[in-house]
Amino acid sequence: MFVLGIETSCDDTAAAVLLDGRIILSNLVSSQDDVHSPYGGVVPELASRQHVKNILPIVDQAIERAGIGLKDLGGFAVTYGPGLTGSLLVGLSFVKGASYRWGIPYVGVNHLEAHLLAIFLEREVPFPYIALLASGGHTLLYLVRDFSDYLYLGGTRDDAAGEAYDKVAKMMGLGYPGGRVIDQMAKDGDPRAIRFPRARMKSGSYDFSFSGIKTAVWHYLRTHGDAQKIDIAASFQEAVVDMLIAPTMRATKNLSVERVVLTGGVSANSRLRIKMMERAKELGVEAYFPSPALCTDNGAMIALAGHHLLKRGRKDALGLNADADLTL
Ligand code: KG4
Ligand code: ZN
Repeated sequence: MFVLGIETSCDDTAAAVLLDGRIILSNLVSSQDDVHSPYGGVVPELASRQHVKNILPIVDQAIERAGIGLKDLGGFAVTYGPGLTGSLLVGLSFVKGASYRWGIPYVGVNHLEAHLLAIFLEREVPFPYIALLASGGHTLLYLVRDFSDYLYLGGTRDDAAGEAYDKVAKMMGLGYPGGRVIDQMAKDGDPRAIRFPRARMKSGSYDFSFSGIKTAVWHYLRTHGDAQKIDIAASFQEAVVDMLIAPTMRATKNLSVERVVLTGGVSANSRLRIKMMERAKELGVEAYFPSPALCTDNGAMIALAGHHLLKRGRKDALGLNADADLTL
Protein backbone atom coordinates (compact mmCIF):
# COMPACT_ATOMS: atom_id res chain seq x y z
CA MET A 1 0.00 0.00 0.00
CA PHE A 2 1.24 3.50 -0.90
CA VAL A 3 0.62 6.11 1.81
CA LEU A 4 1.19 9.84 1.40
CA GLY A 5 2.25 11.41 4.71
CA ILE A 6 1.90 15.15 5.30
CA GLU A 7 3.36 17.10 8.21
CA THR A 8 2.71 20.79 8.94
CA SER A 9 2.60 20.91 12.75
CA CYS A 10 5.25 23.58 13.22
CA ASP A 11 7.51 25.35 10.73
CA ASP A 12 8.40 22.61 8.22
CA THR A 13 6.12 21.64 5.34
CA ALA A 14 6.85 17.98 4.67
CA ALA A 15 5.44 15.26 2.42
CA ALA A 16 6.51 11.68 1.74
CA VAL A 17 5.32 8.57 -0.04
CA LEU A 18 5.85 5.32 1.81
CA LEU A 19 5.35 1.83 0.44
CA ASP A 20 4.15 -0.93 2.77
CA GLY A 21 5.09 1.03 5.89
CA ARG A 22 8.81 0.60 5.21
CA ILE A 23 10.09 1.74 1.84
CA ILE A 24 10.55 5.51 1.48
CA LEU A 25 9.86 6.43 -2.16
CA SER A 26 10.11 10.17 -1.55
CA ASN A 27 10.58 12.32 1.54
CA LEU A 28 10.65 16.10 1.06
CA VAL A 29 10.86 18.94 3.54
CA SER A 30 10.47 22.61 2.80
CA SER A 31 12.11 24.42 5.72
CA GLN A 32 10.99 27.87 6.87
CA ASP A 33 14.17 28.61 8.84
CA ASP A 34 14.95 31.70 6.74
CA VAL A 35 11.50 33.14 7.44
CA HIS A 36 11.70 32.74 11.24
CA SER A 37 15.44 33.27 11.74
CA PRO A 38 15.22 37.10 12.12
CA TYR A 39 12.79 36.59 15.04
CA GLY A 40 14.86 33.96 16.88
CA GLY A 41 11.91 31.54 16.97
CA VAL A 42 8.84 30.37 15.08
CA VAL A 43 6.22 33.09 14.43
CA PRO A 44 2.93 31.11 14.23
CA GLU A 45 1.12 33.40 11.80
CA LEU A 46 4.07 33.44 9.38
CA ALA A 47 4.37 29.64 9.68
CA SER A 48 0.79 28.97 8.60
CA ARG A 49 1.06 31.41 5.67
CA GLN A 50 4.23 29.66 4.48
CA HIS A 51 2.52 26.26 4.73
CA VAL A 52 -0.27 27.53 2.48
CA LYS A 53 2.35 28.53 -0.12
CA ASN A 54 4.41 25.36 0.17
CA ILE A 55 1.96 22.53 0.57
CA LEU A 56 0.85 21.99 -3.02
CA PRO A 57 4.34 22.09 -4.60
CA ILE A 58 5.74 19.78 -1.89
CA VAL A 59 2.93 17.23 -2.29
CA ASP A 60 3.23 17.37 -6.10
CA GLN A 61 6.96 16.74 -5.90
CA ALA A 62 6.57 13.91 -3.37
CA ILE A 63 4.15 12.10 -5.67
CA GLU A 64 6.22 12.77 -8.77
CA ARG A 65 9.49 11.58 -7.19
CA ALA A 66 7.77 8.44 -5.93
CA GLY A 67 6.86 7.71 -9.55
CA ILE A 68 3.22 7.04 -8.77
CA GLY A 69 -0.11 8.73 -9.46
CA LEU A 70 -2.72 9.94 -6.96
CA LYS A 71 -4.96 7.02 -7.92
CA ASP A 72 -2.31 4.57 -6.65
CA LEU A 73 -2.53 5.86 -3.07
CA GLY A 74 -4.12 3.57 -0.49
CA GLY A 75 -4.47 6.46 1.95
CA PHE A 76 -3.37 9.83 3.25
CA ALA A 77 -1.83 10.35 6.68
CA VAL A 78 -1.65 13.82 8.18
CA THR A 79 -0.54 15.27 11.51
CA TYR A 80 -3.56 16.61 13.43
CA GLY A 81 -1.73 17.46 16.68
CA PRO A 82 0.04 18.49 18.78
CA GLY A 83 1.45 21.67 17.27
CA LEU A 84 0.46 25.18 16.21
CA THR A 85 -3.24 25.28 15.40
CA GLY A 86 -2.89 27.46 12.28
CA SER A 87 -0.10 25.26 10.92
CA LEU A 88 -1.92 21.99 11.67
CA LEU A 89 -5.05 23.27 9.95
CA VAL A 90 -3.24 23.81 6.65
CA GLY A 91 -2.15 20.17 6.34
CA LEU A 92 -5.36 18.76 7.74
CA SER A 93 -7.65 20.85 5.53
CA PHE A 94 -5.56 20.03 2.48
CA VAL A 95 -5.78 16.30 3.15
CA LYS A 96 -9.50 16.40 3.90
CA GLY A 97 -10.10 18.17 0.58
CA ALA A 98 -7.93 15.71 -1.35
CA SER A 99 -9.49 12.72 0.42
CA TYR A 100 -13.01 13.91 -0.45
CA ARG A 101 -12.15 14.88 -4.03
CA TRP A 102 -10.30 11.65 -4.90
CA GLY A 103 -12.22 9.23 -2.71
CA ILE A 104 -9.07 8.11 -0.89
CA PRO A 105 -9.29 7.44 2.88
CA TYR A 106 -7.26 9.50 5.31
CA VAL A 107 -6.17 9.21 8.94
CA GLY A 108 -5.09 11.88 11.41
CA VAL A 109 -1.76 11.06 13.04
CA ASN A 110 -0.40 12.08 16.44
CA HIS A 111 2.93 13.81 15.77
CA LEU A 112 4.46 12.34 18.96
CA GLU A 113 3.52 8.79 18.01
CA ALA A 114 5.12 9.29 14.58
CA HIS A 115 8.42 10.36 16.21
CA LEU A 116 8.35 7.33 18.53
CA LEU A 117 8.00 4.96 15.56
CA ALA A 118 10.37 6.73 13.11
CA ILE A 119 13.14 4.20 13.75
CA PHE A 120 11.06 1.53 11.92
CA LEU A 121 11.69 3.42 8.67
CA GLU A 122 15.24 2.11 8.83
CA ARG A 123 15.23 -0.98 10.99
CA GLU A 124 13.17 -3.30 13.13
CA VAL A 125 13.44 -2.80 16.88
CA PRO A 126 11.93 -5.48 19.14
CA PHE A 127 9.40 -4.20 21.69
CA PRO A 128 9.59 -3.03 24.41
CA TYR A 129 11.93 -0.04 24.21
CA ILE A 130 12.43 3.24 26.03
CA ALA A 131 11.97 6.17 23.65
CA LEU A 132 13.46 9.59 24.29
CA LEU A 133 11.79 12.24 22.16
CA ALA A 134 13.78 15.47 22.30
CA SER A 135 12.86 18.26 19.91
CA GLY A 136 12.18 21.98 19.80
CA GLY A 137 8.71 21.54 21.24
CA HIS A 138 9.00 18.37 23.36
CA THR A 139 11.21 16.42 25.72
CA LEU A 140 9.39 13.24 26.61
CA LEU A 141 10.22 9.75 27.81
CA TYR A 142 7.99 6.79 26.98
CA LEU A 143 7.98 3.05 27.39
CA VAL A 144 6.92 1.75 23.96
CA ARG A 145 5.35 -1.70 24.45
CA ASP A 146 3.84 -2.14 20.99
CA PHE A 147 2.30 -0.11 18.15
CA SER A 148 -0.34 2.05 19.87
CA ASP A 149 0.80 0.99 23.34
CA TYR A 150 2.80 3.79 24.97
CA LEU A 151 3.39 4.42 28.67
CA TYR A 152 4.32 8.00 29.60
CA LEU A 153 7.29 8.03 31.97
CA GLY A 154 8.25 11.68 32.18
CA GLY A 155 8.72 14.97 30.40
CA THR A 156 10.19 18.41 30.74
CA ARG A 157 8.83 20.62 33.48
CA ASP A 158 9.73 23.79 31.60
CA ASP A 159 11.68 24.24 28.35
CA ALA A 160 12.17 21.50 25.78
CA ALA A 161 15.80 20.50 25.11
CA GLY A 162 15.72 21.97 21.58
CA GLU A 163 14.17 25.15 22.93
CA ALA A 164 17.13 25.50 25.32
CA TYR A 165 19.51 25.08 22.37
CA ASP A 166 17.61 27.68 20.36
CA LYS A 167 17.43 30.20 23.23
CA VAL A 168 21.11 29.85 24.10
CA ALA A 169 22.00 30.23 20.40
CA LYS A 170 19.93 33.41 20.34
CA MET A 171 21.75 34.79 23.43
CA MET A 172 25.06 34.08 21.68
CA GLY A 173 23.90 35.67 18.43
CA LEU A 174 24.12 32.40 16.49
CA GLY A 175 20.74 32.61 14.72
CA TYR A 176 17.78 30.22 14.60
CA PRO A 177 17.46 27.27 14.89
CA GLY A 178 20.48 26.92 17.15
CA GLY A 179 20.93 23.18 17.71
CA ARG A 180 23.00 22.35 14.68
CA VAL A 181 25.21 25.47 15.03
CA ILE A 182 25.98 24.79 18.69
CA ASP A 183 26.62 21.12 17.90
CA GLN A 184 29.13 22.17 15.24
CA MET A 185 30.85 24.84 17.37
CA ALA A 186 31.08 22.54 20.37
CA LYS A 187 33.29 20.14 18.40
CA ASP A 188 36.19 22.59 18.79
CA GLY A 189 35.44 23.54 22.41
CA ASP A 190 36.23 22.06 25.82
CA PRO A 191 33.12 20.53 27.43
CA ARG A 192 34.75 20.83 30.86
CA ALA A 193 35.72 24.49 30.54
CA ILE A 194 32.63 25.71 32.42
CA ARG A 195 30.73 23.57 34.91
CA PHE A 196 27.09 24.47 34.19
CA PRO A 197 24.58 23.01 36.69
CA ARG A 198 22.65 19.81 35.90
CA ALA A 199 19.02 19.74 37.11
CA ARG A 200 18.36 16.67 39.22
CA MET A 201 14.89 15.32 39.91
CA LYS A 202 14.09 13.26 42.98
CA SER A 203 14.69 9.56 42.55
CA GLY A 204 11.87 7.76 40.80
CA SER A 205 11.10 10.75 38.56
CA TYR A 206 11.84 10.64 34.85
CA ASP A 207 11.26 14.35 34.36
CA PHE A 208 13.64 16.86 32.78
CA SER A 209 14.29 20.57 33.31
CA PHE A 210 16.23 22.92 31.05
CA SER A 211 15.31 26.39 32.30
CA GLY A 212 18.14 26.38 34.89
CA ILE A 213 20.87 25.75 32.34
CA LYS A 214 19.47 28.47 30.12
CA THR A 215 19.60 30.98 33.00
CA ALA A 216 23.09 29.79 33.97
CA VAL A 217 24.36 30.47 30.44
CA TRP A 218 22.69 33.88 30.50
CA HIS A 219 24.46 34.75 33.79
CA TYR A 220 27.75 33.49 32.44
CA LEU A 221 27.45 35.59 29.31
CA ARG A 222 26.53 38.66 31.34
CA THR A 223 29.53 38.36 33.65
CA HIS A 224 32.17 36.89 31.30
CA GLY A 225 31.01 37.89 27.81
CA ASP A 226 31.10 35.47 24.90
CA ALA A 227 34.77 35.57 23.88
CA GLN A 228 35.04 31.81 24.58
CA LYS A 229 32.11 30.88 22.34
CA ILE A 230 33.30 27.36 21.51
CA ASP A 231 33.88 26.48 25.18
CA ILE A 232 30.50 27.91 26.21
CA ALA A 233 28.83 25.90 23.43
CA ALA A 234 30.65 22.69 24.40
CA SER A 235 30.01 23.11 28.14
CA PHE A 236 26.33 23.97 27.64
CA GLN A 237 25.89 21.01 25.32
CA GLU A 238 27.61 18.63 27.76
CA ALA A 239 25.16 19.63 30.50
CA VAL A 240 22.12 19.18 28.21
CA VAL A 241 23.37 15.81 27.01
CA ASP A 242 23.97 14.63 30.60
CA MET A 243 20.47 15.75 31.60
CA LEU A 244 18.93 13.85 28.68
CA ILE A 245 20.88 10.67 29.31
CA ALA A 246 20.38 10.35 33.11
CA PRO A 247 16.57 9.79 33.27
CA THR A 248 16.63 7.72 30.07
CA MET A 249 19.18 5.28 31.38
CA ARG A 250 17.54 5.22 34.81
CA ALA A 251 14.34 4.12 33.07
CA THR A 252 16.07 1.29 31.19
CA LYS A 253 17.52 0.06 34.48
CA ASN A 254 14.42 0.42 36.67
CA LEU A 255 12.10 -1.11 34.09
CA SER A 256 14.61 -3.75 32.92
CA VAL A 257 14.34 -2.68 29.30
CA GLU A 258 17.31 -3.50 27.09
CA ARG A 259 16.71 -1.07 24.25
CA VAL A 260 16.57 2.69 23.95
CA VAL A 261 15.49 4.67 20.88
CA LEU A 262 16.27 8.36 20.42
CA THR A 263 14.13 10.58 18.24
CA GLY A 264 13.25 14.24 17.60
CA GLY A 265 15.48 17.01 16.25
CA VAL A 266 17.86 17.05 19.23
CA SER A 267 18.67 13.36 18.77
CA ALA A 268 20.55 14.41 15.63
CA ASN A 269 23.10 15.88 18.07
CA SER A 270 26.53 14.33 17.59
CA ARG A 271 27.63 14.51 21.23
CA LEU A 272 24.36 13.00 22.47
CA ARG A 273 24.78 10.11 20.05
CA ILE A 274 28.36 9.38 21.13
CA LYS A 275 27.72 9.71 24.87
CA MET A 276 24.46 7.74 24.76
CA MET A 277 26.22 4.93 22.88
CA GLU A 278 29.01 4.82 25.48
CA ARG A 279 26.60 4.81 28.42
CA ALA A 280 24.37 2.20 26.78
CA LYS A 281 27.36 -0.07 26.20
CA GLU A 282 28.38 0.20 29.87
CA LEU A 283 24.87 -0.83 30.93
CA GLY A 284 24.41 -3.59 28.34
CA VAL A 285 21.63 -1.66 26.61
CA GLU A 286 21.26 -1.31 22.84
CA ALA A 287 20.82 2.29 21.59
CA TYR A 288 19.13 3.09 18.28
CA PHE A 289 19.12 6.38 16.38
CA PRO A 290 17.23 7.18 13.18
CA SER A 291 19.30 9.08 10.57
CA PRO A 292 19.24 12.83 11.28
CA ALA A 293 16.72 13.49 8.45
CA LEU A 294 14.29 11.07 10.10
CA CYS A 295 14.89 12.49 13.62
CA THR A 296 13.65 15.94 12.61
CA ASP A 297 10.08 16.55 11.42
CA ASN A 298 9.36 14.66 8.20
CA GLY A 299 6.48 13.22 6.20
CA ALA A 300 7.82 9.64 6.16
CA MET A 301 7.25 9.13 9.89
CA ILE A 302 3.69 10.45 9.52
CA ALA A 303 3.08 8.03 6.63
CA LEU A 304 4.51 5.19 8.75
CA ALA A 305 2.25 5.86 11.75
CA GLY A 306 -0.68 6.35 9.33
CA HIS A 307 0.09 3.07 7.57
CA HIS A 308 -0.40 1.15 10.83
CA LEU A 309 -3.69 2.94 11.53
CA LEU A 310 -5.01 2.36 7.99
CA LYS A 311 -3.98 -1.29 8.18
CA ARG A 312 -6.13 -1.63 11.28
CA GLY A 313 -9.08 -0.22 9.34
CA ARG A 314 -9.13 3.28 10.74
CA LYS A 315 -10.55 5.95 8.49
CA ASP A 316 -11.18 9.45 9.82
CA ALA A 317 -14.24 11.51 9.06
CA LEU A 318 -14.17 15.02 7.60
CA GLY A 319 -15.16 16.36 11.04
CA LEU A 320 -11.76 15.61 12.60
CA ASN A 321 -10.30 18.81 14.03
CA ALA A 322 -6.75 19.95 14.69
CA ASP A 323 -5.75 19.50 18.34
CA ALA A 324 -2.87 21.76 19.40
CA ASP A 325 -2.53 20.01 22.80
CA LEU A 326 -3.00 16.42 21.68
CA THR A 327 -1.31 13.94 24.02
CA LEU A 328 -0.41 10.32 23.55
O1 KG4 B 1 11.95 17.56 15.69
P1 KG4 B 1 12.24 18.92 15.17
O2 KG4 B 1 12.71 19.05 13.74
O3 KG4 B 1 11.02 19.88 15.29
C1 KG4 B 1 10.20 19.96 16.41
O4 KG4 B 1 10.57 20.76 17.31
O5 KG4 B 1 9.18 19.22 16.44
O6 KG4 B 1 13.35 19.56 16.15
C2 KG4 B 1 13.89 20.84 15.98
C3 KG4 B 1 14.81 21.15 17.17
C4 KG4 B 1 15.32 22.58 17.19
O7 KG4 B 1 15.17 23.09 18.50
C5 KG4 B 1 16.79 22.43 16.82
O8 KG4 B 1 17.61 23.43 17.37
C6 KG4 B 1 17.11 21.06 17.37
O9 KG4 B 1 15.95 20.28 17.14
N1 KG4 B 1 18.26 20.42 16.70
C7 KG4 B 1 19.39 20.09 17.32
C8 KG4 B 1 20.26 19.57 16.34
N2 KG4 B 1 19.60 19.58 15.14
C9 KG4 B 1 18.36 20.12 15.39
N3 KG4 B 1 19.75 20.20 18.61
C10 KG4 B 1 20.98 19.78 18.94
N4 KG4 B 1 21.87 19.28 18.06
C11 KG4 B 1 21.57 19.15 16.76
N5 KG4 B 1 22.45 18.65 15.89
ZN1 ZN C 1 8.62 16.98 15.89
